[in-house]
Amino acid sequence: MKILVTGGAGFIGANFVFYMLKAHPEDEIVCLDALTYAGNLETLAPVMDEPRFRFVKGDVADRETVFKLFEEEGFDVVVNFAAESHVDRSIEDPGIFLRTNILGTQVLMDASRKYGVDRFHQVGTDEVYGDLPLDRPDLFFTEDMPVTASSPYSASKASADLLVMAYHRTYGLPVTISRCSNNYGPYQFPEKLIPLMIANALADKELPVYGTGENVRDWLYVEDHCRAIDLILREGKVGEVYNIGGHNEKSNLEVVKIILKQVGKPESLITFVGDRKGHDLRYAIDPAKIHSELGWLPTTMFDDGIRQTIDWYLENESWWKNIISGEYQQYYEKMYSNR
Ligand code: NAD
Ligand code: DAU
Repeated sequence: MKILVTGGAGFIGANFVFYMLKAHPEDEIVCLDALTYAGNLETLAPVMDEPRFRFVKGDVADRETVFKLFEEEGFDVVVNFAAESHVDRSIEDPGIFLRTNILGTQVLMDASRKYGVDRFHQVGTDEVYGDLPLDRPDLFFTEDMPVTASSPYSASKASADLLVMAYHRTYGLPVTISRCSNNYGPYQFPEKLIPLMIANALADKELPVYGTGENVRDWLYVEDHCRAIDLILREGKVGEVYNIGGHNEKSNLEVVKIILKQVGKPESLITFVGDRKGHDLRYAIDPAKIHSELGWLPTTMFDDGIRQTIDWYLENESWWKNIISGEYQQYYEKMYSNR
């Protein structure tokens, strides 16, 4: 199979490239990535010389680049990870989220139609279900729930999902969508909760917890997400949506305390700061469909996954220190000073 992986220089896309090259020695992968602030070629260094891998720098919303690449390569499968992915940035500046996440998806699907692919897979998010109340632990996100959105980021992802389903119904494009809960693991950009808290704790800096810290996220180790997408590509039904999550809900405060304990730093580093605008209260995936139809279950439990993740950040300090020493400093200052 020849697979186009968009956004493969980012967190989940890169983990997916590594996973697929290892799991399927017969497959070839082309990665198309614009190398925005979140994309990092250093992450892909271990596979750059691999003959079954090719990296192309380019924007998914650039029709000419995308169509030329499809013409050259003749892809069997497209997996679309490319996105602006950070909620806080979408609150500051929504425009780029609409361009990349919606128009980029449209361009990729237009090329997929023209050149004919066996599958277009959209990497979606559980944020398109809105949020759940904190006092109803019996409620979960299921695939048949209506799509809604709280942030410009989730609105852009929800719009993309609607467009994907429309291309399936109108043009018969063979699509699948996965909607995953919060991922964590190696190579996650340090603007996201877990790597940000690890980096700050190691530097004895304040750990900025939004609001009360009671908001709940449903954490999944990134490799489990990659395996689920691989399974959907091979055994999933065209036109279907699959939720991915492992029933691992934790409040933000719990997560931060676990990190502090593991790196041996005091809880006095926790600092409550102003809340995120429109902050979703609770995400919780019901993964019954992917479990019963495709036999998927997560294999890395949170205790192991968080230990492996912290160890990875400890062993790969240069990877994230390079990031936080650059343009990221202005970002941090803007988002967190006077919050
Ligand atoms: P990320 O921000 O780490 O990486 C995004 C990648 O996309 C970067 O390499 C960036 O350079 C690239 N990119 C951005 N704009 C582009 C463009 N116009 N053209 C080409 N490439 C572009 O994101 P991530 O956390 O790895 O998320 C990947 C996907 O998974 C996203 O679609 C996101 O919505 C979805 N998702 C993420 C999570 C999570 O917890 N991180 C959970 C569920 C779904
Ligand atoms: O649920 C899937 C989504 O998970 C993905 O679609 C998004 O791409 C991904 O970024 C993630 O979104 P969240 O907004 O849940 O992740 P984030 O790491 O930004 O925040 C997790 C929680 O931690 C959230 O409740 C906000 C809180 N938080 C975050 C940061 C960065 C803090 O309290 N302090 C912080 O400094």
